[in-house]
Amino acid sequence: MSGHVPVMLAEVLATLVPASGETIADATFGNGGYTRAILAAADCMVCAIDRDPDAIARGQALVAQFPDRLRLIEGSFGNLAALLHESGVTMLDGIVFDIGVSSYQIDDFTRGFSFRGDGPLDMRMSRAGESAADLVNLLPEAELADLIYMYGEERLSRRIAKAIVAARAEAPIVTTLGLASVIRAVVPPDRSGIDPATRTFQALRIAVNDELGEIERGMAQAAGLLAPGGRLVVVSFHSLEDRLVKRFMQDAAGRTPAPSRHDPAGLFGRAAPEWELLTPRPLRPAGDEAYANPRARSARLRAMRRLSAAKVQP
Ligand SMILES: C[S@@+](CC[C@H](N)C(=O)[O-])C[C@H]1O[C@@H](n2cnc3c(N)ncnc32)[C@H](O)[C@@H]1O
Repeated sequence: MSGHVPVMLAEVLATLVPASGETIADATFGNGGYTRAILAAADCMVCAIDRDPDAIARGQALVAQFPDRLRLIEGSFGNLAALLHESGVTMLDGIVFDIGVSSYQIDDFTRGFSFRGDGPLDMRMSRAGESAADLVNLLPEAELADLIYMYGEERLSRRIAKAIVAARAEAPIVTTLGLASVIRAVVPPDRSGIDPATRTFQALRIAVNDELGEIERGMAQAAGLLAPGGRLVVVSFHSLEDRLVKRFMQDAAGRTPAPSRHDPAGLFGRAAPEWELLTPRPLRPAGDEAYANPRARSARLRAMRRLSAAKVQP
């Protein structure tokens, strides 16, 4: 059976520093790697969230092991505050986000995330809402091109969108390998060795799951829930995500000239910042982890801490 090796686990624990009696949230339970380590590190309460019903089902064994200390909640972290409130949690001492898909999701070809094997063109982490096949077969060509350009950073987006529209006029594109072959026919492999379909698949996954919107909503709500001294830790895997995380934390810590998109009124910039950056530069996986776990290679960890009330006073 395939497994999911938790990425940058030592660095997550070192920045999250769970302590006994605290309430910690794991916004992306996945295979429970972080949750298990947090439960082992301190006698704390963990509220773990995942939008994937399969992850929630797999996690029940861990809940049975820690019935008094682990709550496992199905839902999107874009609804973090409501999900936690429904479970009676209104304040957190720490929260970690490990953004993206798990190895379980990628390796299960029936989920449609990968072009390494054939499966339905799905990509929905929550198994609900519009699938990748819906976008590929229904979006107008220009919108498809924009999506592939924006979320895949694919410079040949127009060519790909044109090929998709021509192919779907013959028959709907409903499988991962069907889409990959349409892309490979018009995008030559480059010297990097990266499959020509990679960037388009990334773009569709981000769009299907509204991944960037989720990060913005999740971080904003996390900041609202953290008590003085509370830690926000985010591990992300590509530049579009990391840019959002970096900007959000720099704004909160008063490191950007106001106003910014997250703070249109320019309020953060003038008041004494309530947050301290724990990682002025992002942490990267140690060399041996990057070597052993290819998924870790692009990981970046950023963290910040809410200052205690005393420190916020001018
Ligand atoms: C990279 S894995 C997490 C792995 C986990 N840290 C571990 O150690 O096993 C990401 C997980 O987050 C979930 N996920 C991604 N975006 C989400 C969102 N917006 N809301 C809730 N869960 C999400 C995915 O379904 C996936 O199971």
